[in-house]
Amino acid sequence: MKSNEELIETAKEAAKNAYCPYSQFPVGACVLYESGNVYLGCNIENSSYGLSLCAERNAISTAIAAGEKSKLLKIAIYSPKSTKCFPCGACRQWLQEFEKGQNIQIILEDDNNGLCLYNINDLLPYSFNLI
Ligand code: THU
Repeated sequence: MKSNEELIETAKEAAKNAYCPYSQFPVGACVLYESGNVYLGCNIENSSYGLSLCAERNAISTAIAAGEKSKLLKIAIYSPKSTKCFPCGACRQWLQEFEKGQNIQIILEDDNNGLCLYNINDLLPYSFNLI
């Protein structure tokens, strides 16, 4: 199982693949599942700005497309342009979709204080759910 440090380092690698010609704001994400598998994502922008895809949703999509069936335990998120690159509201809702009582951990890097840990239930309380 990758450590939190390894997960953020992997998110840094993923950020190098970002396609962000409009914002010049690269983001990388790395998701860890109970199986021990990890999947990467980067942001992908589009000329039609609203179609841009965030790194976090790209990573989760990659996991699902690969057939991952175990619980989503952790996500590390990194941008070289930001200290503690928090997930946007849409990505919080995506994470919440896969919250099955494990309180998904969110790992961010603070430029001055190293790794900071949050969980999805604190970042998105009273969330909308159908099931
Ligand atoms: N972005 C992400 O990849 N994740 C987030 O949670 C917030 C924003 C991307 C979208 C866009 O390509 C760039 O960062 C600037 O908003």
